[in-house]
Amino acid sequence: MAVSHYGGNIAGAVAVLIGVVALASMTVSTEAQLQLGFYAKSCPKAEDIVRKLVERHIPSVPSLAAALLRLHFHDCFVRGCDASVLLNSTSSTQAEKTAAPNLSLRGFSFIDTVKAAVEAECPGTVSCADVLALVARDSVVVTGGPTWKVPTGRRDGLVSIASEALNGLPAPTSNFSSLQKTFSDLELDVKDLVLLSGAHTIGVAHCSTISNRLYNFTGVGDQDPTLDSAYAANLKAKKCKTQNDSTTLLEMDPGSRNTFDLSYYSYVLKRRGLFQSDSALATDSAALSTIKGLLAGTLENFYAEFALSMEKMGKINVTTGSTGEIRKQCAVVNS
Ligand code: HEM
Ligand SMILES: *[C@@H]1O[C@H](CO)[C@@H](O)[C@H](O)[C@H]1NC(C)=O
Ligand SMILES: *[C@@H]1O[C@H](CO)[C@@H](O)[C@H](O)[C@H]1NC(C)=O
Ligand SMILES: *[C@@H]1O[C@H](CO)[C@@H](O)[C@H](O)[C@H]1NC(C)=O
Ligand SMILES: *[C@@H]1O[C@H](CO)[C@@H](O)[C@H](O)[C@H]1NC(C)=O
Ligand SMILES: *[C@@H]1O[C@H](CO)[C@@H](O)[C@H](O)[C@H]1NC(C)=O
Ligand SMILES: *[C@@H]1O[C@H](CO)[C@@H](O)[C@H](O)[C@H]1NC(C)=O
Repeated sequence: MAVSHYGGNIAGAVAVLIGVVALASMTVSTEAQLQLGFYAKSCPKAEDIVRKLVERHIPSVPSLAAALLRLHFHDCFVRGCDASVLLNSTSSTQAEKTAAPNLSLRGFSFIDTVKAAVEAECPGTVSCADVLALVARDSVVVTGGPTWKVPTGRRDGLVSIASEALNGLPAPTSNFSSLQKTFSDLELDVKDLVLLSGAHTIGVAHCSTISNRLYNFTGVGDQDPTLDSAYAANLKAKKCKTQNDSTTLLEMDPGSRNTFDLSYYSYVLKRRGLFQSDSALATDSAALSTIKGLLAGTLENFYAEFALSMEKMGKINVTTGSTGEIRKQCAVVNS
């Protein structure tokens, strides 16, 4: 009796122990992933606060939606979606913000406004990386574009290094194979490359991003022969009038830069993609057939496909669980 009772206790203790171990490993494996409504218990109003601020602010400055979408992209491609793009330089390190591709990165102060509102509701709970991911999605939605799922639970990183932005982000001068490599390193395929490039249906670029195509393509004062010559002539006459114009803005999708439509892809096929990286999509047979498929389909189909690629992008190298931190201010790591 006593023996069996004793034995029972051991069995019970072992069972409890197994239970604890199983529970612990379950916790670890769920913590390792983003989840929809991650803040449902810890900050139930967080996502509403973000959406309401976007709804209040963005309709009067719709061009900011493009800037915010681009910020999220730049964040995810460098060190994963960890808000490293939002960090300021420190006395010892030049931050991603200061790298050449930062040209025209905008929207930092709106992110700070949203973060401050979320902090006021639930201090130290909602990450800057999640704020950025939610703001990017909600901004595109309020300007009439597609929606996508934003599972949350990202943690903020502690490091931001300019040279990593330079190396990790695709350049507007990239050819197809280099774009494909940059994307595949992040487990994004050619279809994702085509769809995510479709973000260039909104927003603007500086003349400096294409001055080589217009004025000095191979170093002998020539023009990029793959850019439609009538289009190039028009850009030189009306927009980028000198080779060193660094202020004039151009639409990647002329005529509908605030509308999230399919016309960007039509321009690419007409040799009017603004960047070499846009034109490059027509140089690969798989990418080309993806573009043709999108153009043959509906806007709803484009939105649905874009959503899937955005969901993949939003998961790149995320930090979850207890590593990283929840930054108090998005521009600086906690002290
Ligand atoms: C495929 C490689 C890509 C390259 C080489 C590229 C390059 C660029 C460049 C050079 C600009 C103009 C910057 C300026 O002059 O101000 C730009 C703008 C923009 N990019 Fe991309 N991009 C790429 C992919 C993406 C992706 C994946 C997204 C988002 C999902 C995106 C969203 C945007 C948006 C929305 C703008 C307009 C920003 C604004 O209006 O402020 N791009 N991109
Ligand atoms: C993401 O993580 C993978 C594997 O851990 C690594 O190879 C890759 O360089 C990382 N990418 C970025 C942008 O940090
Ligand atoms: C972007 O980088 C340039 C230098 O390349 C720097 O002068 C500028 O301040 C940076 N912009 C931001 C927002 O940090
Ligand atoms: C594409 O660009 C990369 C990087 O600049 C270069 O090494 C490669 O030779 C180019 N490929 C082609 C086919 O031009
Ligand atoms: C064109 O580029 C070449 C090589 O980079 C350079 O030597 C030349 O000065 C440039 N021409 C002009 C007009 O800027
Ligand atoms: C570059 O810009 C300066 C002033 O902004 C102008 O004086 C100069 O002529 C320009 N150079 C070229 C090659 O366009
Ligand atoms: C980050 O840098 C910007 C631009 O230099 C500055 O306005 C802002 O106050 C800085 N943020 C923090 C929290 O230091």
